Amino acid sequence: MNAPDTSSAIKRAMADVPVPMAMLAELTHRCPLKCPYCSNPVELLKAGDELSTDEWLSVFDQAAHLGVLQVHLSGGEPALRRDLDQFVACLAAHGVYSNLITAGVSLTRERLQALADAGLDHVQLSIQSVRADNADRITNYKDSLSKKRSFAGWVVDAGLPLTINAVTHRDNIDETEEAIQFALDVGAQRIEVANTQYYGWAAVNRAALMPSHDQCIQQADIVSAAQRQLAGILNIDYVPTDYYARYPKPCMGGWASDVLNVTPSGQVLPCHAAESLTDMHFENVRNTPLAEIWYASKSFNRFRSTGWLPELCQNCDRKEIDFGGCRCQAFALTGSASETDPACSLSPHHHAMEALADTLSSSQAPAYKYRRIGTGSVKA
Ligand code: SF4
Ligand code: FES
Repeated sequence: MNAPDTSSAIKRAMADVPVPMAMLAELTHRCPLKCPYCSNPVELLKAGDELSTDEWLSVFDQAAHLGVLQVHLSGGEPALRRDLDQFVACLAAHGVYSNLITAGVSLTRERLQALADAGLDHVQLSIQSVRADNADRITNYKDSLSKKRSFAGWVVDAGLPLTINAVTHRDNIDETEEAIQFALDVGAQRIEVANTQYYGWAAVNRAALMPSHDQCIQQADIVSAAQRQLAGILNIDYVPTDYYARYPKPCMGGWASDVLNVTPSGQVLPCHAAESLTDMHFENVRNTPLAEIWYASKSFNRFRSTGWLPELCQNCDRKEIDFGGCRCQAFALTGSASETDPACSLSPHHHAMEALADTLSSSQAPAYKYRRIGTGSVKA
């Protein structure tokens, strides 16, 4: 039997498939913090299994040739890669915008300056709480807040634009106003207030993290008031909780629409949680070129555009707005990635999702299961 002609499959696909705009490069799963809301998979990769320096440099070359304009350097904690400055320099040489997504406790001022000198364009700093004791409890790391505050100052001193990333849940959602004030105080241009997405470690800790409906309504009011008051001063992006939503979010802007994700071991995914879809196979950049994966792989084409949508969504005028929601959430809550996301109020599973959130948030919160490498057997 002849092998499939992938080059002509790619050429055919190029007519219909858009160029990816952005790539999330998860350089490592290692991280000094142990946040229970982390969306990294429960089976975290060990350092020895990560892509090598040359393999990552090849990924960045391929991404640039594919047309990627922005690369988000993420993890785990990307600063734990000693070759981070080489990656930044490689992206700068290609004219690709680089964004460092960091917990801010592993870089010195000197190393941050070296990254800025290598061409780093932007820093996104995560905060877990604006109260020191709560921050230490959530991260399982001492003095995390004061270290982050110092780090934010170094970012601003280095002349780099700064975004604060505040992932909220039951134990910090009531601090939303203070988190916005923190972003203003440290000189950030933007804050992303994003409710926890229940994948990976966050799914394991869902019962501990689920906020109540009242907490979510209150947060939405605070955010929209702040968006009005701070227009032109601070950009505030908001990702509300799916569990109390009326309609789902257009996850990733649509499956394999304009973003791709490369894991520390080189798996290429249409979203950061796709490895939770246990009935799917994903290609690895160690064996298959990035362009072939983007244009011609089964995994990227399976939920692309709207032709695959279930009947409920096919007949809905929002299908070009939300693309049926999140495939990973549909799989987690219904057992099928082809279902309408239960975050949609029209889904037959929506009521059960809301009822689950109400039950979890009104029950005594269990202790966190902190993320750790080598605990692949932890279950929700
Ligand atoms: Fe979106 Fe489908 Fe719900 Fe319509 S039915 S709002 S397309 S998820
Ligand atoms: Fe995978 Fe939404 S996180 S499609």
